[in-house]
Amino acid sequence: MADKNSFEPEIEFKDLPKNPSRLFGWVFPYYAVLFLVMGIYFVKHMNSASFNNVPAIYTDSLIVSADVEMKKGGIMPAIDLGIISNPNADLIGQGKTLFQTNCSSCHGTEGKGDGVAAAALTPKPRNFHETEGWTNGRTFTDLYNTLEKGVPNTGMIAYEFIPAKDRIAIIQYLRTFTDFPKVSDQEIAKLDENFSFSKGVATASNITLEMATKKIAEEANTKLDLNVVIEKINQSNDKNIVGLFNSYALDKEKVLVVFSRDYLKTNNADLFIDRLIASPSANGFKPSIVELPREQIIQLFNVLVKAVS
Ligand code: HEC
Repeated sequence: MADKNSFEPEIEFKDLPKNPSRLFGWVFPYYAVLFLVMGIYFVKHMNSASFNNVPAIYTDSLIVSADVEMKKGGIMPAIDLGIISNPNADLIGQGKTLFQTNCSSCHGTEGKGDGVAAAALTPKPRNFHETEGWTNGRTFTDLYNTLEKGVPNTGMIAYEFIPAKDRIAIIQYLRTFTDFPKVSDQEIAKLDENFSFSKGVATASNITLEMATKKIAEEANTKLDLNVVIEKINQSNDKNIVGLFNSYALDKEKVLVVFSRDYLKTNNADLFIDRLIASPSANGFKPSIVELPREQIIQLFNVLVKAVS
């Protein structure tokens, strides 16, 4: 009867290492519970997991490497062409003052290309006493063009913001350093033709492309007051649709921004629905909105149109 009293364990623990596959039976329930919990968590959060939180704003894909410079327009008064052919001492004196303020830091107080900032520059600023090796040249027209356009890829920027008369004064001072080519009447006539010295010109103000793009975007995107719009939607007579909006709009602001930007312009319900179904979260809606019958989405469209416009 010894058999009756002896205790037979259901599992022979000592044998387990010999037969490890039996271990699986022990851990399986724990894993099953763990996976179930993770699964429930995932399903609960599926909407926000697929929610695309890139803001609904157009970004500018246009990368501009050479922007328009900002400048204030104005009227350039007519210039007496005599200051080109026969500069007087006054004009040259003005030129000297302007040169010291604007140019001497690089070109040196005596125009020898040895200003304080010159050391850091490659190529070095032009030494105006030298007659060889100029990039644009030494005629009056060349000098004027250099000030108008600068020398690309060097420290020599364009000085087109200095009024034409002052530029001419600087050039006349510069031309006193050494002998420069004489200015013929023909050359003066040509300059006058190109730059309208004797007529004077009105120049328009410029803003940079970036500023212009912003301005256009601001004008196009007449700010919609989110709270007012949502209030309007909530006051809509069709409470079902209001309910739909509140339960399917994942990000109300996004819905309204995208909606007012894209759909109001077309005012085309079919287009709206096609795009919405193609990509609910990009439009701020929960993915499950695709399950709604089309008529309901059309009603939603109509409520949105009313609220936004
Ligand atoms: C930041 C430094 C800097 C300043 C300020 C500057 N320049 Fe220059 N400039 C240079 C450099 C560098 C060159 C040489 C460009 C080259 O080698 O083509 C140069 C070249 C020139 C040339 C010769 C272009 C040629 O054909 O070789 C003229 C003319 C000139 N500058 C006039 C002026 C005048 C006038 C001013 C003031 C209104 C001025 N620069 C201010 C740096 C400067």
